[in-house]
Amino acid sequence: MTMGLQVAIDGPASAGKSTVAKRVAKKFGYVYCDTGAMYRAVTLAALQQGLAMTDTEKISELAKQIKITFQPAEPEQRVFINGQEVTRDIRLPKVAKNVSAVAAIPTVRQEMTKQQRQIAAEGGIVMDGRDIGTTVLPHAPVKIFMVATAHERARRRYLENKQKGITTTSLEELQRAIELRDQKDSTRKVSPLTQASDAIRLDTTSLTIDEVVAEISKIIKKTEKHLA
Ligand code: CDP
Ligand code: CDP
Repeated sequence: MTMGLQVAIDGPASAGKSTVAKRVAKKFGYVYCDTGAMYRAVTLAALQQGLAMTDTEKISELAKQIKITFQPAEPEQRVFINGQEVTRDIRLPKVAKNVSAVAAIPTVRQEMTKQQRQIAAEGGIVMDGRDIGTTVLPHAPVKIFMVATAHERARRRYLENKQKGITTTSLEELQRAIELRDQKDSTRKVSPLTQASDAIRLDTTSLTIDEVVAEISKIIKKTEKHLA
């Protein structure tokens, strides 16, 4: 009997990865893992402890010490650091601003990758992030690289923040912040954001969430058949 596939979804900020990944996981009865939330949690913990973002040693230590856990919930999975809920705080602009620096620290990545592989070990998982198809799960049979124009991605994040009541900057500023983060994520030395050679590129700029879910579902079903 098949245990369920490993599905890797990567791409730049606000391309629709987590929304779609969550729905696909639900549809197939798979576990969903938001790896971005893990890097955001380490960043928040470092900020809470007043660490400088340049203090790579202390941040690496912190990444090993803190326990990041998830709890399925609607509309959004809940995130905890050492049992304390941080679902909302990891989305604050100060976290978004600093997360790329934290995610560029090699030992932080090593620790997160280790934890992510443990979560994915049994298959039946949809994992989204930046380096899932290239580094974390290089043998995943389904790899999607999700993209959309920077303008559309900023528009989506702006609306999302507004709906959630999260204080946000202007649309233009948000687009600049997203582009800056993409640039940092794509140019860092360790596991940069890049499309795996065997990933399927999916441009979601003019697609609805349902259309993207349908497209990925088709790919999963085809792969399941092929592997059966
Ligand atoms: O939701 P959004 O696309 O804004 O970002 P996220 O998925 O929450 O990821 C936040 C940040 O974590 C990214 O900008 C990357 O710096 C980092 N990240 C990473 O380096 N590797 C991953 N697998 C996931 C996220
Ligand atoms: O995880 P990632 O940062 O890639 O993006 P997300 O948080 O899943 O999506 C950002 C926002 O875009 C959410 O509010 C989604 O509802 C919305 N979205 C959309 O409008 N159309 C899509 N095709 C995908 C996402």
